[in-house]
Amino acid sequence: MSQPPNDTDPPANGGPAAPAQPHASASDPRAAARAALDWLIVAGADEAIGDAPVDRYAAAKAAKAARAARSMPATAPSRPETPTVSAQETPRQPAAPAAPDRETRQPAGHGAPEHTPQAGTAGRRSGEMPPIWRPKGGELKTAEQTLASARKLAAQATTLGALRDALASYDGCALKQTATNLVFADGAPEARVMIVGEAPGADEDRQGKPFVGVSGQLLDRMLSWIGFSRADNVYISNVLFWRPPGNRTPTAAEVAACLPFVERHIALKQPDYLILSGGSSAKTLLGKTEGVLKLRGRWFSYQNPEMPTPVPALVTLHPAYLLRQPAAKRQAWRDLLSFKTAFDAGTDPTI
Ligand code: URA
Repeated sequence: MSQPPNDTDPPANGGPAAPAQPHASASDPRAAARAALDWLIVAGADEAIGDAPVDRYAAAKAAKAARAARSMPATAPSRPETPTVSAQETPRQPAAPAAPDRETRQPAGHGAPEHTPQAGTAGRRSGEMPPIWRPKGGELKTAEQTLASARKLAAQATTLGALRDALASYDGCALKQTATNLVFADGAPEARVMIVGEAPGADEDRQGKPFVGVSGQLLDRMLSWIGFSRADNVYISNVLFWRPPGNRTPTAAEVAACLPFVERHIALKQPDYLILSGGSSAKTLLGKTEGVLKLRGRWFSYQNPEMPTPVPALVTLHPAYLLRQPAAKRQAWRDLLSFKTAFDAGTDPTI
């Protein structure tokens, strides 16, 4: 088991020193024991009894074998063609679009409901937007038309509620066809911090709320340690608003089809701080190609064309990853402390 977080460690991003851990008073042995137990849980001790190990490659192997049996080629997803974001780490650099990172999610599982192929999708990877396609019950559209209409629809929304309604009426993302519910956001609309995760899973799809499954519960627990909760001061969403069937990796087209709404979402929310949870979120919004283990703990200045000013954005590990790699909780904990230091001081670590 890893050591619990150590408040004498240097901060992950080279910024200001992290605040001290919450220590229980030596005169209160019960509080001290409770605090020690909590630290063990954050460090991953609960994993030994709580979470079944997951072979995240098993489903991919099975899917590959099934495809081979059917002689069905899987096409590689193309990159999103909407590099409209200007997200920079200080010193600023031009952003490049990135393919989504699926390090924290499981590939397609057996028996997952597959997206019904649209016009011209023979041999196409499930869910990928073809050059010409037909939104359910709608007219034939090119991918460019779909993205243009997404941008227009998103730009017309002037409140979070209107943006949610706009998404509900939007048929440009194929994931909507297999999802049960739109998963828009949860938390305090006035919160100064906005967390952006990757994609809804089964629980989120059922309830229509982000981060309500086991990863969300871990996230809530970790946030509570630094005095944050969605009831009071955290707002949460994802870079995808519908669940990919079987939690498969979203295609670049699906990510691109949601991006105008994600950008507008952040612009309307106007958070003072962004936390990008997981590789897909970080890479989609920051246009980075490095893996999340390289990006985590670092602050970036994020701005998209919908925003008048940039916002500091911290990359951290996704809770689903932490459930599989409990030792990494230590790093995620340091990221949260880095966030809390900046938040409490009201500073922008990218300046
Ligand atoms: N993982 C995410 O990234 N988002 C959710 O809403 C749930 C799990």
